[in-house]
Amino acid sequence: MKIDKKEVLKALENITVPGEGKNMVDSGAVKNIQIFGDEVEVDITIGNPSLQARKKTEVEILKIIHQKVYEKAKIKVNIKVEAAAAKPKVNEIKGKPIPGIQNIIAVASGKGGVGKSTVTANLAVTLAKMGFKVGLLDADIYGPSMPIMFDVANEKPLAITVDGKSKMKPVENYGVKLLSIGFFTQPNQAVIWRGPMASKALNQMIFDAHWGELDFMLLDLPPGTGDIHLSIMQAMPVTGAVVVSTPQEVALADAKKGVAMFQQDSINVPVLGIVENMAYFTPEELPNNKYYIFGKEGAKHLAEDLNVPFLGEIPLVQSIREAGDIGRPAALQTATPIEKAFEELTKNVVQELVARNKSLPPTEAIKITTMAGCSAVKKK
Ligand SMILES: Nc1ncnc2c1ncn2[C@@H]1O[C@H](COP(=O)(O)OP(=O)(O)OP(=O)(O)O)[C@@H](O)[C@H]1O
Ligand SMILES: [Mg+2]
Repeated sequence: MKIDKKEVLKALENITVPGEGKNMVDSGAVKNIQIFGDEVEVDITIGNPSLQARKKTEVEILKIIHQKVYEKAKIKVNIKVEAAAAKPKVNEIKGKPIPGIQNIIAVASGKGGVGKSTVTANLAVTLAKMGFKVGLLDADIYGPSMPIMFDVANEKPLAITVDGKSKMKPVENYGVKLLSIGFFTQPNQAVIWRGPMASKALNQMIFDAHWGELDFMLLDLPPGTGDIHLSIMQAMPVTGAVVVSTPQEVALADAKKGVAMFQQDSINVPVLGIVENMAYFTPEELPNNKYYIFGKEGAKHLAEDLNVPFLGEIPLVQSIREAGDIGRPAALQTATPIEKAFEELTKNVVQELVARNKSLPPTEAIKITTMAGCSAVKKK
């Protein structure tokens, strides 16, 4: 008799863990199932520490496998008790994932001008260099900077027909597909956006665009932590957030608010970690000299205090600024310390994302409904 693991899982769906509303498979209590011939070993974790609850669960598992899978199966049940507080906070936001797009990473800061867009652009080209399919959505409704940073300010997304529907084709450069709110506004024109308008425009750039298959979609957010962010974050299923800060006190205070914004109940997006940008100044001709002009390791310490991962540090280097202005992200300069710093950062982001995807269910968007100029958030 060959026992099928899937059948065991299906059988376990009939059991509800004490103290949990869901069955033990859906609640994530079943950690591992191993089959050796007619032996089944089940590892589960439950939140209820009482011996009685453990015994009851064990008996139920034995019973259901004998009943539904194989009456002569030899079963071993390993039960681990997990303190309720130690459980990862499961994302409760439910909605629909975007077809074809695996991961959406939002880059935010709190304070303006700390280098969000620079970090986002360089993350994007580094991911593309690593062989990932990458899209970048410039959601900075106050000052979109991606068209310049990717040297495509004079281009416009084309309309193409896909499956009989008209879609926007993202502009592409350096292996990164790009859409920016800047493609749709006049240069020098101040745009006043309200939250619902901004999320509508962003929704169109996601759902009415032909992105194709993407491993990563990076989202460059505007500075701050206001209502506009709430609207943007609620309009799309953001997998994780990266918070950029300089080591300076004022930037750190705002970065802290940025982290808190993602962690608040109505947003609840996992924070992948904090990046320290402009960590120190290095003159290009003296690469070993480091000047901590904004303070030392401030963002690193903040990450430790907030118990979120520290993703890496990027020095303040003139060529990073120049590269941004020319429209060719600095990480494209091969065999330089800058390329290396961005590679290090990108690897850490990917690593945190993989860990996040293992431990938490996908984030899913909440639907925003617009009512007479104000936005109401409705859970799907
Ligand atoms: N590591 C760096 N070294 C040198 N210059 C940098 C670095 N990071 C960013 N800059 C420069 O600092 C300025 C602000 O950066 P950037 O536009 O990326 O910040 P931002 O946080 O996106 O700003 P905003 O809040 O306005 O969107 C730009 O001129 C950019 O080229
Ligand atoms: Mg920016």
